[in-house]
Amino acid sequence: MLPPHLLLFLFLHLLLPGMWADPEEPQVFQLLHTGLFANVSSAEVSGVALLEDVPLCALDPANWSLHFHWPWARQAAAEGDMEKLLPHYKHFLRSMVRYVQEIAQQAKLDYPLVIQIRAGCVLHPNRTSWGFIDAGEGGKDLVTFKVERQRWEPQQPSQLAVLVNRSLNSRKSVTGLLEHLLSISCPSQILILHRYGRAALERQELPVATVFARTPSPAQLLLVCRVTGFYPRSISVAWLRDGQEVPPGPDTNTSAILPNADLTYQLRSVLAVAPHDGHSYACRVRHRSLGTRSLLIPWENRSTAPTISIAIAVLLLVAAFSAGGFWWWKRRKGDQGHTGEQEFII
Ligand SMILES: *[C@@H]1O[C@H](CO)[C@@H](O)[C@H](O)[C@H]1NC(C)=O
Ligand SMILES: *[C@@H]1O[C@H](CO)[C@@H](O)[C@H](O)[C@H]1NC(C)=O
Ligand SMILES: *[C@@H]1O[C@H](CO)[C@@H](O)[C@H](O)[C@H]1NC(C)=O
Ligand SMILES: *[C@@H]1O[C@H](CO)[C@@H](O)[C@H](O)[C@H]1NC(C)=O
Ligand SMILES: *[C@@H]1O[C@H](CO)[C@@H](O)[C@H](O)[C@H]1NC(C)=O
Repeated sequence: MLPPHLLLFLFLHLLLPGMWADPEEPQVFQLLHTGLFANVSSAEVSGVALLEDVPLCALDPANWSLHFHWPWARQAAAEGDMEKLLPHYKHFLRSMVRYVQEIAQQAKLDYPLVIQIRAGCVLHPNRTSWGFIDAGEGGKDLVTFKVERQRWEPQQPSQLAVLVNRSLNSRKSVTGLLEHLLSISCPSQILILHRYGRAALERQELPVATVFARTPSPAQLLLVCRVTGFYPRSISVAWLRDGQEVPPGPDTNTSAILPNADLTYQLRSVLAVAPHDGHSYACRVRHRSLGTRSLLIPWENRSTAPTISIAIAVLLLVAAFSAGGFWWWKRRKGDQGHTGEQEFII
């Protein structure tokens, strides 16, 4: 199926383990496709490729051209099996559209139809990988591909799932190719992407945390710890009472981790306490960008608004301004003739 030199290239990283550093966490590479079939003659397909939560490229539904979000993603796509596959992806999309239309006709499905396909693999740090393809119809799982058995399996008891399962399993050359793509091409592509996009993929952004209080009733005080601007997504936020971690329970409520528009994340954690209970409280944040340190934001009992992190920000601002002012003053003293242009650099 693949020329021998290509296979050798794919296995080169196994022969030379030190050649490029592996990611230290499991990495998920996936292609997401959505097909909207408004009627017998219309199909709109959109798609996106993601490595973890980083979008690599998107499919333009108007003309099926690929838009790469990063130069390194384009470079990585020109290597490995991707180089061989990319020229054929429009053919793959056309086949998929035709297949859905055939099935819709056989099963007498009602339009509009929404088909979703998710395909990709997880590469673990120990170099084992796990491939997957899931297809859904109308927002429900329809069939899934079992890579190790090279077989599709229905995911619902419907006639449609049975029909699709039977017809997909009858295409042996396709199931064999899928097995190869998912278990060999996909994990090797993750390593290639890491080699080209290390800086973007290993980017770290520091969390910014603030603590404030809400008083829904005179007898209740809600301490809110708001943490935002961090990347990667994984984070630990806990409340400390007199220096001791408060175990999660009915008094605590932590939101889901939500995305910001700039590919950073945010969350908030709420702790319900009795007003004037005499305890001290702090919000503790641990994140990869902080290394082994923790961010500790105490709640100031006396006033509700200012927090230590704001105080630190003000201090830093003051320090920056004084340093800038000093530099400006020194420059003025040493180089009287200079114009104002450079002074704006402060
Ligand atoms: C099919 O749907 C498309 C998109 O909604 C529409 O433009 C087109 O007129 C429809 N064609 C028929 C035959 O209904
Ligand atoms: C595809 O369409 C987009 C706009 O929707 C356009 O910017 C792009 O140049 C087109 N690509 C090709 C290859 O025609
Ligand atoms: C590799 O790591 C994964 C995830 O941690 C684990 O499930 C799997 O058993 C490991 N495989 C080997 C061969 O160590
Ligand atoms: C799916 O298709 C295969 C091959 O035709 C068949 O052996 C298997 O029984 C089917 N699975 C179900 C649950 O119908
Ligand atoms: C946590 O907060 C959310 C949003 O304010 C609320 O809907 C939910 O009921 C709360 N859960 C608990 C256990 O208090």
